[in-house]
Amino acid sequence: MTTTSSADIAIAATGISKRFGGALAVDDVSLRIAPGEIHSIVGENGAGKSTLMRVMAGIIESDSGSVEVFGTPVDPGTRAAIDAGIALVHQELSLVPEMTVAENILLGAFPTRFGFTRYKDLKEIAANALAEIGVSVDLDERVSRLSVALRQFVEIARAVARQPKVLILDEPTATLTPAETDYLLRMLSRLAEGGMAIAYISHRIPEVFEISSKVTILRDGRQVLTAPIADLTPQEVIDNMVGRELKEDLQTHRDATPGEVVLRATDIEAPRVNSVSLEVRAGEIVGLGGLVGAGRSELVRAIIGADNRTAGRVTLTQNGRSVTLSSYTSAVRNGVGYVPEERRTDGLALIMTVSDNIRLPNRQQLSRFGIKAPRKIAEFAQELADKVGLRPPEIEREAGQYSGGNQQKVVLAKWLGRRPDFMVLDEPTRGVDVGAKAEIHRLVKEMADNGTAVLVVSSDLPELLELSDVIHVMRDGRITGSLTREDATEQSVMTLAAGEAEAVA
Ligand SMILES: Nc1ncnc2c1ncn2[C@@H]1O[C@H](COP(=O)(O)OP(=O)(O)OP(=O)(O)O)[C@@H](O)[C@H]1O
Ligand SMILES: [Mg+2]
Repeated sequence: MTTTSSADIAIAATGISKRFGGALAVDDVSLRIAPGEIHSIVGENGAGKSTLMRVMAGIIESDSGSVEVFGTPVDPGTRAAIDAGIALVHQELSLVPEMTVAENILLGAFPTRFGFTRYKDLKEIAANALAEIGVSVDLDERVSRLSVALRQFVEIARAVARQPKVLILDEPTATLTPAETDYLLRMLSRLAEGGMAIAYISHRIPEVFEISSKVTILRDGRQVLTAPIADLTPQEVIDNMVGRELKEDLQTHRDATPGEVVLRATDIEAPRVNSVSLEVRAGEIVGLGGLVGAGRSELVRAIIGADNRTAGRVTLTQNGRSVTLSSYTSAVRNGVGYVPEERRTDGLALIMTVSDNIRLPNRQQLSRFGIKAPRKIAEFAQELADKVGLRPPEIEREAGQYSGGNQQKVVLAKWLGRRPDFMVLDEPTRGVDVGAKAEIHRLVKEMADNGTAVLVVSSDLPELLELSDVIHVMRDGRITGSLTREDATEQSVMTLAAGEAEAVA
């Protein structure tokens, strides 16, 4: 490819390659984004999207290739990238929970022209950045007290505060509801109209079609194509991502014949949870719908004892034997599995290998099966890794070296092997690509078919509708309504979630 870097291109990345150990994560990729253009980068989990963006933002050094901003070469390194006007919103939240909103926005590097600015002025910059993206949040509030969605917006404000020429967003909508997503997309379009060049990563194909003018598709680190979005259909994008024709999942609902009640939660009270009762039967998938902040994660965490509850009782019944769940440790010992919302902090030991992560909750099970030999254990872990479609399927790699979506698969794999009696999944396919998502849905249904009682929280309405036998919708810490499979539609869930007074913004 020729390197005719024109000065009207906001950012030009040319011939970027990046190798990790033996594997090429990014293989000779070139990307040019004009001012005012929103350019989406799509691809399956592990395709190299985040790696390419991290190279462009100077966070990691590439093995070859160059980055230019308006025709001026940018040296490797975050400092140089920031000074050149490149800002990155990371795939995983990177805020410091103990610090305030203002401190977080101002944290780390600003272009050096702000070098002499006093804190008071910086606070004004933070306020302006929030105003610019139209989000009202108290600058002195601790980030730990904010909802996940608000944290995401603070993260974006931090990038916007630097008044970048190039804004890179790595899956910013993964944690957002449809209404919040719409809001963000409108905001990005506005920023682009103001001349910003935007690189946008998402697994949600409809979004990509909604906001981008161009799209680049990566597969196994290689650039499959770059084209105006108008030249492609969603199906063509997906086919190019996976490199084969992805069969439309027939969305077959299971013929659920739920058995006895396995999990009974009665009058649960916890912060943001007001007197909630629910039951989950063997072989049943119960969905929890609602807007982010409705108290769903808080409820499931209180049920399994991951957070304290102030009142209420939880019993787990299996083969006629009931136990009262008091702590998370006792819950896990008694056959409860949990895939948390925040996989990086709660779900995975990032510095341990995939194999060790999978074995961790499975030790009991393994010895029950008489599996003690290391080779057998490795086989067992490999089998589970294959089952969830881990890519690459190298179980002796550290979990932290896997792409975001693949880390989610590891969390799932570690519980699959244990066959829990009661399984809680909080946003199980967040950040997971379309192919892997269908696969995970299949695995969750299979778990239920094998008799596990499943409770799933999801903000992804099609997912919630596809998986659930019954959906409880929460708002303000209460269940505001329950829908059977026959009654559940995106509309009926959203109406209960938003309340009749507030229309979905
Ligand atoms: N620090 C690292 N060490 C080793 N390998 C890595 C590291 N970071 C990424 N990789 C590998 O590089 C490849 C590309 O990963 P990357 O995170 O860029 O994918 P992605 O397209 O962002 O995927 P996702 O959609 O899951 O976020 C993967 O095979 C991944 O395992
Ligand atoms: Mg990524």
